[in-house]
Amino acid sequence: MAKPKVYSTHQLFEPARKILAASCEMQYWTDSERPPREEVFRRVKDKEGLVCLLTEKINDEFLRAAPKLRIASNVAVGYDNIDVDACTKRGVVATNTPGVLDETTADFAWTLLLAVARRLSEGEALARSGNWKGWNLDQLCGADVWGKTLGVVGFGRIGRAVARRAAGFQMKVIYTDAVRAAEDVERSLNVEFRDMNALLAEADFISVHVPLLPETRGLFDAPKFLRMKPNAFLINTSRGPVVEEAALVAALESNKIAGAALDVYENEPFIHPGLKRTNVVLAPHLASASIETRTKMAVMAVNNVVTLFNGKRPMNILNPDVLRKT
Ligand code: DGY
Repeated sequence: MAKPKVYSTHQLFEPARKILAASCEMQYWTDSERPPREEVFRRVKDKEGLVCLLTEKINDEFLRAAPKLRIASNVAVGYDNIDVDACTKRGVVATNTPGVLDETTADFAWTLLLAVARRLSEGEALARSGNWKGWNLDQLCGADVWGKTLGVVGFGRIGRAVARRAAGFQMKVIYTDAVRAAEDVERSLNVEFRDMNALLAEADFISVHVPLLPETRGLFDAPKFLRMKPNAFLINTSRGPVVEEAALVAALESNKIAGAALDVYENEPFIHPGLKRTNVVLAPHLASASIETRTKMAVMAVNNVVTLFNGKRPMNILNPDVLRKT
């Protein structure tokens, strides 16, 4: 029997390629640059499967270009790049990669938090510059992390993994979410629930872990920054549009908050020039970027594809209705 034709917009990692090779007729985009949209359209014309990255917009226009498509498998947990309703209407299964990147992403949120508090980027720049004149008492003094209050916005798997790490820093942890966690979860993680405004007023470090949804777009706007403490830092490893960058820049410029550490941006890969300040740590969307985790994400994504073509329900299906209809 002919193998299903699948296009991957990235060459993935060897373990994922092996799985695909066994049961699919594969075509990969192999350049290090992301593929032009027209090129992807050309490639997906005859494909039944797609493995894509969060940089590809899978919308109606895309689906029109891929009339035979049965599955769009995102190599990311966030799937705001996929119009799931449009997929459902066209009978295309959409999948993502939840669970495997939580701890790695939490590690990175902490990397950013510590870096911005302790002025690591400035210190590193000085150490590399050749201009360091030696130890000095008031040189690049930052803010303590230990013993402070961490505010976690969005208390899903990643938010909880971030909260769990705070114990080692003897921090108080408060969180907010649309849905309050169960009492035993709060107790075991030693966290307290706050509404958003109370969290903003109390936290020294605010780490954001919400998905990008219509209700979270622009969640951090000018009024929110006004409620934060002037010595507080914002850390964002979720999605860029959750933070209004112009409002963040204004808050930083007027010292309404102490600093920010960002992994994600409103219009990636563009970074607002006003964010290129010494009290902002900038990373290029790296939170899940460990070899182990990115490999697990790729393997999970391709397993979703292979499972569907084996006549079974992919584990990480976002629109189960599609399979109910057929
Ligand atoms: C995701 O998975 O949504 C991240 O942004 C990339 O790991």
